[in-house]
Amino acid sequence: MTVALVTGANKGLGKEVARQLGERGITVLLGSRNRERGERAAAELVAESLPVIPVELDVTDAGSVEAVVELVAHRYGLLDVLVNNAGILINPLALDTSTEDMRATFETNVFGVVTVTRALLPLLAKAAAPRIVNVASTTASSTYNNGPDARFANAPRNLAYASSKAAVTMLTVQYANAFRRAEEFAHFKVNSATPGHIATDLNEHRGPRTPAQGARIVVELATLPEDGPNGGFFNDDGHLPW
Ligand SMILES: NC(=O)c1ccc[n+]([C@@H]2O[C@H](COP(=O)([O-])OP(=O)(O)OC[C@H]3O[C@@H](n4cnc5c(N)ncnc54)[C@H](OP(=O)(O)O)[C@@H]3O)[C@@H](O)[C@H]2O)c1
Repeated sequence: MTVALVTGANKGLGKEVARQLGERGITVLLGSRNRERGERAAAELVAESLPVIPVELDVTDAGSVEAVVELVAHRYGLLDVLVNNAGILINPLALDTSTEDMRATFETNVFGVVTVTRALLPLLAKAAAPRIVNVASTTASSTYNNGPDARFANAPRNLAYASSKAAVTMLTVQYANAFRRAEEFAHFKVNSATPGHIATDLNEHRGPRTPAQGARIVVELATLPEDGPNGGFFNDDGHLPW
């Protein structure tokens, strides 16, 4: 049995990742900070005969994270796949972005990733081939932001969000290096993924791609073979520029 946990999986990209992992026969713990929303999403996937189980999980709440660690330890004794998908978008104009906007964004998008990952390391270490996928964003690429002709040079509201996602790609690199250095974690692979611009509540469904299309790269990185990459940043087309 292979067991995966997807955070923020009651809708949007996370729900599609849960669906596609379930379609591969992986038992999916569908994380949702709201119990009812999680149960509803899981019921939808269970109705498709997928092995999906809702778990209440707020990535900003250490107690909630600990409860999930205990549940996974008690029921399965290990965790094969962790998808850090939960994320928020707070997007005032760059020069109006406050410290509070930054704190709130980083609390979920960055500190949440560290809280969940760190708490689950012992259970992931027990898996034969642990895989962690951190959902970043194309906006995390410095190359795509830097200079007057860059793709996002004229995106006026990306300060908090893009900075938080750049932190996600960097902490992914740092985790990959740390795993390589430690014998007990040397079998881990951790990578960042970006789904591209997909239609979800996060962007009032303005993205041209579907969550199902966005989920593909996440699922690929969550099920990497032994010779797969470690510490990278990928979309459907391959490695993004940093
Ligand atoms: N949409 C895009 O074009 C796009 C592009 C690149 C990257 N992404 C990334 O993809 C990921 C999923 O976003 P999405 O587009 O699917 O947006 P979404 O539909 O708004 O889904 C976000 C999910 O994260 C959950 N969440 C937020 N804060 C949480 C917390 N503290 N604890 C646990 N769950 C929390 C939400 O739960 P509630 O339902 O309770 O709010 C929801 O399930 C995010 O990391 C986002 O930054 C999205």
